Amino acid sequence: MAKLLGALNHTNGLESTTARGLCPDTVDSPALNSVQTEFLDSMVDSVWTESAVSVGGMKMDPILILLRIVHVLGGVFWAGAILFVVHFLEPAVRDAGPDGATVMQALRKRRYLEAVPVTAFLTLLSGYGLYWRTFGRLHPGLDASGPELAFGLGGLASLLAFVVGVTLLRPSALRIGALGAELARVPAERKAALQEEVGRLRLRMRKSGRWVAVLLSVAILSMAVGRYL
Ligand code: HEM
Repeated sequence: MAKLLGALNHTNGLESTTARGLCPDTVDSPALNSVQTEFLDSMVDSVWTESAVSVGGMKMDPILILLRIVHVLGGVFWAGAILFVVHFLEPAVRDAGPDGATVMQALRKRRYLEAVPVTAFLTLLSGYGLYWRTFGRLHPGLDASGPELAFGLGGLASLLAFVVGVTLLRPSALRIGALGAELARVPAERKAALQEEVGRLRLRMRKSGRWVAVLLSVAILSMAVGRYL
């Protein structure tokens, strides 16, 4: 493999590919087509290659590695937390009737509604950092390659998911929590109106949750295949 890497480095100028933290097996693949090579080359012309260091004869880029760790961990956590709640927890809580509210309160106490947006923000930040570092701009242009378009589409879908999440999903969940506490205190004649509002908010939460799940699924698919297009 070292021999092949050396040959690739020599012929394609891919020396810095390992500096980007790319898996050496990717570089090792004999099946690299011209588009993939172009993608790897675009990564080589990184804005931050000066942060590369040499470890045991291999070049590494600690900033790239840090960005990728934050990005992949954050993306997995964000998308996983949303998909689990939308597809499993929320329907289960609905089936449980009044007992379901207790589960939602416990989730709230464990700061689910803070952990998800903070992680989402870090995923976006690191994602746009990686995009800028790889393609030298923050969105695809008319001359964009397949990988740039795919990562750009995934980035846009994630951004929209974040906006829908913080403007519709999270406020609805917070309001439902506040109304739940109020319901226990208000006189009987006020209860019906509050319950109606809770019903409306639950519907909004369900709909916006589904949108966020769809947008995040688009992002996951784009990220999964982006580099091979
Ligand atoms: C929930 C949202 C997201 C998830 C789950 C996610 C996941 C991933 C994963 C797993 C990778 C590694 C793919 C590979 O190595 O082939 C990746 C790479 C990448 N992502 Fe995302 N991502 C998300 C959002 C974003 C956003 C908002 C952007 C901003 C444009 C973005 C830009 C990138 C770029 C440019 C790469 C390539 C980085 C590189 O190869 O160095 N991602 N993403």
